[in-house]
Amino acid sequence: MDAVRAEGLTISYGGKSALSDVTFTLEEGKTLLLLGPNGAGKTSLLKTIACFHREYRGKIEVFGRKPCNARELIGYVPQSHSLNERVPLTALEVVAMGGIYRRGFAHFRIPSKVIEKAKGVLNFVGLGGMENRLFRELSGGQKQRILLARALMSDPKLLLLDEPLSALDPSARAEVANVLSKIKNEKRVTMIITTHDINPLLGVGDLVMLINKRLIAFGRPEAVLTDKVVKSVYGPLARVIPVGGRVYCITGDFHIHRGGHL
Ligand SMILES: Nc1ncnc2c1ncn2[C@@H]1O[C@H](COP(=O)(O)OP(=O)(O)OP(=O)(O)O)[C@@H](O)[C@H]1O
Ligand SMILES: [Mg+2]
Repeated sequence: MDAVRAEGLTISYGGKSALSDVTFTLEEGKTLLLLGPNGAGKTSLLKTIACFHREYRGKIEVFGRKPCNARELIGYVPQSHSLNERVPLTALEVVAMGGIYRRGFAHFRIPSKVIEKAKGVLNFVGLGGMENRLFRELSGGQKQRILLARALMSDPKLLLLDEPLSALDPSARAEVANVLSKIKNEKRVTMIITTHDINPLLGVGDLVMLINKRLIAFGRPEAVLTDKVVKSVYGPLARVIPVGGRVYCITGDFHIHRGGHL
């Protein structure tokens, strides 16, 4: 079964297209790394798949359904979380929120079944024992793992992660990347992960999609991540360097390279 299928998908805001004519298929269980400079349309694509944005033409299906009919199958971790950090929520409460949100009303007391599940998921992301720590006092990498845990609470079949590594230092990036590998290996979840730094995620991604207002390249990492393709989007200073059977990408700064075409 295909997890996501897009055919001639054009996403717009007020009639102005942000991403044009995208066609791709993502099989169930695969992890797709979505790469592109600022303003390329990465978040727009994730939001359209998740039914948060509905102005589009062409076809987009999630497990054979229209996105808005597939919402219970989708977990979404936004580019920047909207938790009000003035509210002193514990790590456990934030994770548990992922288990009650879908019922559509607020609970004053979180059901004990949800608490038990949240503890298990916290363990899964390597934060067992941190239940009662305040979310706002955690490190960036720990916060990101908490947000992943929250998204896992609904047992999604498709997990959409918008820049889960942004604003993290290299060791926190590696920690979060390890949790993403674990999700990939131990749960049958399809993932789409947007990132500016693809290097820590190369072990997780089955496929890479490069976009820049349109589809530039889609395929296996070694096919997409070539000097020619990367330079066409990120400019002449971008590089793909082979390192021990893998590649290392230097994409420089992330502003749109004007006039860059394949
Ligand atoms: N709510 C909105 N209203 C109008 N235009 C928008 C809106 N959201 C995004 N856009 C436009 O759509 C285009 C794609 O934006 P998008 O946020 O999807 O890019 P992105 O690849 O996620 O960028 P970044 O790397 O900065 O997160 C941009 O030109 C942006 O200005
Ligand atoms: Mg974005």
